[in-house]
Amino acid sequence: MGMVIEITPLQSSTAGRLQGQTDRSPLIAVEDLHVHFQLGRHDVLRAVNGVSFDVNAGEVFGIIGESGSGKSTVARVLVGLLNPTEGTVLHDGVVLAKLRSREFRSVRRGYQIVFQDPEGALNPRMTVLQSVREPLDIAGVGSSQDRNQAAMTCLEQVGLGSDFAGRYPHQLSGGQKQRVNIARVLTMQPKLVVCDEAVAALDVSIQAEIINLFSELKYRLGLTYVFISHDLNVVAHISDRVAVMYLGRLVEVSPVEQLLASPMHPYTQALLRSRPSPVPASLREKRQPALTGEIPNAISYPDGCAFQSRCPQATALCAAEVPVWRSAESGHWVACHFAGQNQKTQSK
Ligand SMILES: Nc1ncnc2c1ncn2[C@@H]1O[C@H](COP(=O)(O)OP(=O)(O)OP(=O)(O)O)[C@@H](O)[C@H]1O
Ligand code: SF4
Ligand SMILES: [Mg+2]
Repeated sequence: MGMVIEITPLQSSTAGRLQGQTDRSPLIAVEDLHVHFQLGRHDVLRAVNGVSFDVNAGEVFGIIGESGSGKSTVARVLVGLLNPTEGTVLHDGVVLAKLRSREFRSVRRGYQIVFQDPEGALNPRMTVLQSVREPLDIAGVGSSQDRNQAAMTCLEQVGLGSDFAGRYPHQLSGGQKQRVNIARVLTMQPKLVVCDEAVAALDVSIQAEIINLFSELKYRLGLTYVFISHDLNVVAHISDRVAVMYLGRLVEVSPVEQLLASPMHPYTQALLRSRPSPVPASLREKRQPALTGEIPNAISYPDGCAFQSRCPQATALCAAEVPVWRSAESGHWVACHFAGQNQKTQSK
């Protein structure tokens, strides 16, 4: 099915603000974020190279991209574990780096992260209750009894009853351990939870359980998520909007339904083609091949479009100029010189 898409180049800059539809100011506002790592004397690795996006309170903002595209680096900036090299990140209107240390710690508690490795945050010598209580102990919140009570409430919220409180990590399954990690995060009453590959290490059936738990907690507790995964199916399942990241840049940002139905960036199109299909290969219509080749090195960062070395539609323009952001449909943004033109050929 062909579709007519009006492309409006963003007037301001390549680092345009890719906003969702809301009247309220966003919970997170990222503007032209760069994170560079100095490697030795001469080399600079551009892990994040000019990323801008907003996350609205109550939404699930997905980030998808291959290994090494910079997703975890963005995640660490969002929860105050890493400072931007350039650019600004507003947490509910505040620049974390400008806060005094006490205020910084207090504000930062509102921005929590769940990592991939369920073992990671759990001390094998601590019971489940001690582990869940630990962030409250460190923050020195309330009396010991208050902290126990709060930890028990969080355990209940993640579906672990009181009989789990005295268990040790080795007595838990992978899914139960990840529930304990989520309970630990909930003790801080976060505004935003960044889930960085939070289900990647789990069996597929357990992944679904934990994703459902995240959805349930969002509604019960009014949470906002940034949900990061290299697995498009996982991100698409839970997200309201999805950002596609490639070599330290975002290349497409869109409400999830539009992204799946009419991906506009050649990289997103290739990702969608590599999704597992329920139809046997012999019955599928012939399609262009999915992504080939490796993500280039972020040390010798290319001029022009970051995707040019793997893009079947690349031209001389792509090597010379960074594509500006263009708007297709409402809330659907794409950074490709030929977006709309390649859309016509891809969506027949
Ligand atoms: N502390 C660091 N020092 C140097 N380079 C780093 C550091 N942290 C990350 N990098 C590099 O930055 C780039 C982006 O890494 P990042 O971990 O953000 O990617 P990712 O998208 O999360 O990948 P994955 O899917 O494998 O988790 C990679 O090239 C990585 O090697
Ligand atoms: S700007 Fe050029 S290289 Fe980049 S995605 Fe578009 S067509 Fe491909
Ligand atoms: Mg990562």
